[in-house]
Amino acid sequence: MQRTETEPEAPLQVAVLVGSTREGRVGEQVAEWFLDRARKRDDLVLDVVDLLDYPDFPARYPHTATDAMTRFCGHIDRADAFVVVTPEYNRSFPAALKQAIDFAYDEWHAKPVGYVAYGYGSRGLYATEQLRCVFTELHAMSLRDAVGLNLVEELPQHPDDQAVSTMLDQLRWWGLALREARAVRPYTS
Ligand SMILES: Cc1cc2nc3c(=O)[nH]c(=O)nc-3n(C[C@H](O)[C@H](O)[C@H](O)COP(=O)(O)O)c2cc1C
Repeated sequence: MQRTETEPEAPLQVAVLVGSTREGRVGEQVAEWFLDRARKRDDLVLDVVDLLDYPDFPARYPHTATDAMTRFCGHIDRADAFVVVTPEYNRSFPAALKQAIDFAYDEWHAKPVGYVAYGYGSRGLYATEQLRCVFTELHAMSLRDAVGLNLVEELPQHPDDQAVSTMLDQLRWWGLALREARAVRPYTS
């Protein structure tokens, strides 16, 4: 599908996954911190996919997708790009997030993934690195630059606005490039 130079670019559809479902989670504040910054851009349409809205995910992976799984996969399918907001748990990311990621497959293919991770000394870096492995298996494209927040610091004063801009610029570049590529040629896995 060719776009002329005068035709406006459709905004990138970005699903923002909120990965913590823990009681008393900080994840909501971190997601809001990120969304406050992302919403300032007019080149992205944000769809918040909060795993807390899926309390009916099945405890056992079923033969047939449940309604909740289908609803979740619909959000992933409609997105051109993803941002995963994740805490670090024992040098990895939460089990609830892994469960959700595993429910989709083709829906992740040939789309970019950015990370907003948080924790203490490591700023969520280990969680991000583990997610990179998972998303490689899912034929998704992890961005080089991620956002990492140290929870010891106060979120509103956190100096990482530049990291958010850098990550979102990369997300937009890859998101548009891969959306155009998928339109020209279906991705083959
Ligand atoms: C089970 C568990 C394991 C954790 N492991 C780590 C860790 O390995 N590294 C780290 O920096 N923080 C670790 N933390 C601290 C969390 O990053 C911190 O509590 C954060 O608020 C969790 O995100 P949430 O509140 O959104 O669930 C851990 C917290 C929990 C509950």
